[in-house]
Amino acid sequence: MAPELVEGPIVLVGAPGSGKSTVGALLAERLGVTFRDADAVIAERAGKSIAEIFTDDGEVAFRAQEEQITAELLVHPGVLSLGGGAVLSAATRTALRGHRVVWLRVGLSQSVKRVGLDTARPLLLGNVRGQLLKLLNERAALYSEVATEVVDTDDTTPAEVVETIMNAHVAYR
Ligand code: S3P
Repeated sequence: MAPELVEGPIVLVGAPGSGKSTVGALLAERLGVTFRDADAVIAERAGKSIAEIFTDDGEVAFRAQEEQITAELLVHPGVLSLGGGAVLSAATRTALRGHRVVWLRVGLSQSVKRVGLDTARPLLLGNVRGQLLKLLNERAALYSEVATEVVDTDDTTPAEVVETIMNAHVAYR
């Protein structure tokens, strides 16, 4: 039986390095719908990068913008990738109820490999592995709370992840 869903996008959540942006763009192409990346919209609105928002305005200001923009983007159809920390907001977790939310799950070593030493991710600066371990532990319950389905991404390519999501997609039509 197809779950009852509200109108809106297929939402991708998961930790940094889970492949949300790559998979989101591929999935949207496959479905012939618009892809939106919440981080990209936040940066565009602010006129600066996420790293600059963290540096200039601080994490609290970033989270407030993230919460507001996520709520706005949830009314559009298509595919939406959220920032890794979007689920920290209780309001966002509530807003996600009724949406199809795919948790792209990633383990520590894969996320470290994929993120590498990317300095565009301010929260991970200094100790990428240690920070990711902390994030993964702290957030697993939150991703699980909002997800309607989980796809493990550790030993898969983005194309395979898209296939898995597409196969589950028939249940939603
Ligand atoms: C963050 C993840 C980033 C970005 C910001 C904060 C987080 O997005 O929103 O740097 O708290 O995990 P990605 O998940 O796309 O790296």
